[in-house]
Amino acid sequence: MKQRILITGATGAIGAALAREYAAPGVTLFLHGRNAQRLEEVAADCQAKGSLVVTTQLDVRDFTALRAWLEALGPLDLVIVNAGINTNIGPNGEPEPWDEVEALLDVNLKAAMVIVQAVLPAMRARGHGQIALISSLAGYFGLPVTPTYCATKAGLKAYGEALRGWLAPEGIRVNVVMPGYVKSPMCDDMPGPKPFLWSPERAAKRIRRGLERNQARISFPFPLNWGTWWLAVLPADLSLWILRWLGLSRHAN
Ligand SMILES: NC(=O)c1ccc[n+]([C@@H]2O[C@H](COP(=O)([O-])OP(=O)(O)OC[C@H]3O[C@@H](n4cnc5c(N)ncnc54)[C@H](OP(=O)(O)O)[C@@H]3O)[C@@H](O)[C@H]2O)c1
Repeated sequence: MKQRILITGATGAIGAALAREYAAPGVTLFLHGRNAQRLEEVAADCQAKGSLVVTTQLDVRDFTALRAWLEALGPLDLVIVNAGINTNIGPNGEPEPWDEVEALLDVNLKAAMVIVQAVLPAMRARGHGQIALISSLAGYFGLPVTPTYCATKAGLKAYGEALRGWLAPEGIRVNVVMPGYVKSPMCDDMPGPKPFLWSPERAAKRIRRGLERNQARISFPFPLNWGTWWLAVLPADLSLWILRWLGLSRHAN
């Protein structure tokens, strides 16, 4: 069966692994990123596996260009909204720089919503399509070192859940993906311990399996998923105490 799959942030660790995971004869991959050299490397790998590949370089903060590009693409079977960035409060607990806060809101949340709105009309017209939103386990409960990142990923999680309920009767599947720590430049830049670190390739396989089963929430790895889920369920102050105890909060009290 022929498939047309779009992946944003295909120049990053998880995006590139997803592109390679899906690359096969009969699959047209629309791969997006900003880093031209990395985009070409990933595209070449996917072409070698038999895929037709179309690359696009674009800053997703340019919402006008983003919308125009997607609306011109034609029908897509699967859209993986993966491009994302992170920031943190820094070693001395200073506020996150405001320009970085705005960039996170734009890239992680607003651009994701622009993408959804741009690809939805063609999916609704066909009564077919799947949208995967790459959130994070950090979306379950706000982590003290990354307030804005957690806010964007929690927002994306809620948005995806709402879309799933709204669009399922029309044959459109929406899935929220919540990875734990996955080896990547973004993950390397994060302060603190990184328990149960997965390779991007392992994460890509898990995401693909979840999408094929149309799981509402594709969250992994098991121990960290279970633990962070509890953080959202327990009283917030108890969750904050647990985070301090685990060394995932820089403040001593
Ligand atoms: N790694 C983890 O531990 C982890 C855990 C949970 C969730 N996630 C989520 O997984 C997704 C992928 O992360 P990753 O770990 O693979 O990070 P990564 O290797 O740093 O990749 C980030 C990707 O986002 C793209 N991107 C960032 N800002 C952009 C912008 N303004 N315009 C266009 N593209 C932009 C980058 O493109 P260029 O490099 O070409 O600019 C790159 O392809 C993110 O949404 C992240 O929040 C990651």
